[in-house]
Amino acid sequence: MVPKNLLILGSTGSIGKSTLEVVDAHPGQFVIRGLAAFSNVELLVQQYHKYKPEALCLVDESKADLLKTLLKNEEVTLLFGEKELIKFAQFYYVDIVVNAVVGAAGLLVSLETVKQGRTLAVANKESLVCGGPLFPEIIKKTKAKILPIDSEHSAIWQSAMAGKENELKNVIITASGGPFRSLPKEQFSQITKAQALNHPTWKMGQKITIDSATLANKGLEVMEAVVLFNIPASKVKVVIHPQSIIHSMVEFNDSSVIAQLSNPDMKLPISYALFWPDRVESPFGALDFTKLPDLSFEEPDLDKFKALKLAFHCAEKGGTAPAVFNAANEVAVDAFLKEKIHFTDITNCIEDTLQNFNIVSQPNLLDILEADKTARKTADELIGKFVC
Ligand SMILES: NC(=O)c1ccc[n+]([C@@H]2O[C@H](COP(=O)([O-])OP(=O)(O)OC[C@H]3O[C@@H](n4cnc5c(N)ncnc54)[C@H](OP(=O)(O)O)[C@@H]3O)[C@@H](O)[C@H]2O)c1
Repeated sequence: MVPKNLLILGSTGSIGKSTLEVVDAHPGQFVIRGLAAFSNVELLVQQYHKYKPEALCLVDESKADLLKTLLKNEEVTLLFGEKELIKFAQFYYVDIVVNAVVGAAGLLVSLETVKQGRTLAVANKESLVCGGPLFPEIIKKTKAKILPIDSEHSAIWQSAMAGKENELKNVIITASGGPFRSLPKEQFSQITKAQALNHPTWKMGQKITIDSATLANKGLEVMEAVVLFNIPASKVKVVIHPQSIIHSMVEFNDSSVIAQLSNPDMKLPISYALFWPDRVESPFGALDFTKLPDLSFEEPDLDKFKALKLAFHCAEKGGTAPAVFNAANEVAVDAFLKEKIHFTDITNCIEDTLQNFNIVSQPNLLDILEADKTARKTADELIGKFVC
């Protein structure tokens, strides 16, 4: 097999590191052409020495001198800052751009990748959520492909192949329910950062772990599914499945439901995306049905997890609503991680930011960037009022 050339954006994060583990597990199948991180210079340098990419990008320019010093004797192109991250998607010949950046910071580089007609393997759900109205037209022109890495969307992608597009009735996204599924709502305001960071089934970066605890993550996934599979929000359902073995399902018009099952390990959907359209032997843990716990399902409690309800509302509304939801959530999660606000204020912040926000129904890129900026400002002001 001819090796595939990869660019990994967010290589120092949880998904970035898992992607490199997949690469390590398949010697000779991939060439790392470029790596990008925000500020973790130490790990980026270690990764450089192991994979010898032609280029590195560090978004946090205040650490530029450190990176230059550490790599002064190396033949590597160094790029710095947000703008160069976007250029990174243009400069080098790559087969797949893996976007594993966290947050809306990944939007412009996702857009640039599809504008270049390249294949985007996307973990960065925020870029699809915010840029949802823009991707279809670009893809129509450039024929770029977007391959989902999120386990739920990978499961839908794989399951949907069992039927035709016009036979698809619903997609059913599963959710573990997070660490507070059984906690009474009255105790939510006392939830600590440490408790919220303790996810029962997945080991992930901090932001998505908090999103999983509020179910804002599931809400982002609902909006992501609308964009990726070009379906109305009314066809996206969510079911709580605490064991995280079924990663999502597709229901067809004949009432058949096709599900994708595997151990909860992100290296599996990452491998699927990187090797697609092929499937390869995986060293990452086969399922043993005789050892599985009972698989259970329940309705999500939209009263307790209001972020999911708000996300459904934004998914239906479309336009800039998902970008506003996302921006308010990012600001609030950051404030919660800095222990400035209570756990419940994350969802309050999303709700209050959305209130009276002027949603543009058919936005261009500037409208989306403006909505993101204004929503962050509004959310920031609200944080000041919520302070614990
Ligand atoms: N983790 C999972 O299991 C999982 C599963 C499904 C989907 N996802 C999605 O995958 C994405 C990444 O999640 P993660 O858990 O891997 O996050 P993470 O562990 O926090 O890693 C984030 C990565 O993005 C980089 N980064 C942060 N801010 C950036 C910026 N402004 N510009 C460019 N790069 C930036 C970080 O660099 P530094 O290390 O230098 O800060 C790091 O490499 C998220 O969208 C998440 O929702 C994650």
